[in-house]
Amino acid sequence: MMESLLIAIDGPSGSGKSTTSRLLAAKLGLGYLDTGAMYRAATAGVLAEDVDDDGVADYVRGADLRIVTSSDGNTLTINGRDVTAEIREPRISAAVSRVATNLEVREILTSRMRRIIDEHGRRIVVEGRDITTVVAPDADVRVLLIADPDARVARREAELAGKADREAVQDQVLRRDRDDSTVSNFTDAAEGVTVIDSTFLTPDEVVARIEGLFPRHG
Ligand code: DC
Repeated sequence: MMESLLIAIDGPSGSGKSTTSRLLAAKLGLGYLDTGAMYRAATAGVLAEDVDDDGVADYVRGADLRIVTSSDGNTLTINGRDVTAEIREPRISAAVSRVATNLEVREILTSRMRRIIDEHGRRIVVEGRDITTVVAPDADVRVLLIADPDARVARREAELAGKADREAVQDQVLRRDRDDSTVSNFTDAAEGVTVIDSTFLTPDEVVARIEGLFPRHG
């Protein structure tokens, strides 16, 4: 059996998590799981089916949420509907904390994440907000990726390629920091978690730092 290489990466939006995680997965032939996409897909279902807050946990428990993991991105369907593109829309980002702050939903999705990790023989890069602390505190490599708010706003803005002005993006990023901080503390690293500040690093430099943390054998 191949040795496990479970890499857990947490951080706020715009910290470079997704770029770094995909690069690492592609370079090392590991799986890639975007757990934020799972919360987003659940949110897309909740909005499409007009589920009220009291019904969110039951809805998510009963939903057929499928995720196809590949190093260049994850494809997601909920109850048979492909939501891969839709989950990137601002209306999903705006509503996702309704779903992500529900503790029962977190338990349900956390156990699905663990199952996906096991299905990959624990050879996978997993990114999110609570991977180093809750989902996989026993990961082989645990990283908290941070970056200055200005850099994170600039990255989001570049991603949106002129489709939103800076103030709107700034609002979104900072508001989401606030919303997200109510579900998990991703600004302080837990014990054993290495903080990497990506503000002045290229994606390849971040990847190299993470590779420098791999457990050595023999
Ligand atoms: O990483 P992202 O922006 O796609 O995440 C979307 C939302 O999901 C984010 O606002 C917080 C939530 N999330 C979470 O609560 N726990 C995770 N492990 C991943 C994401």
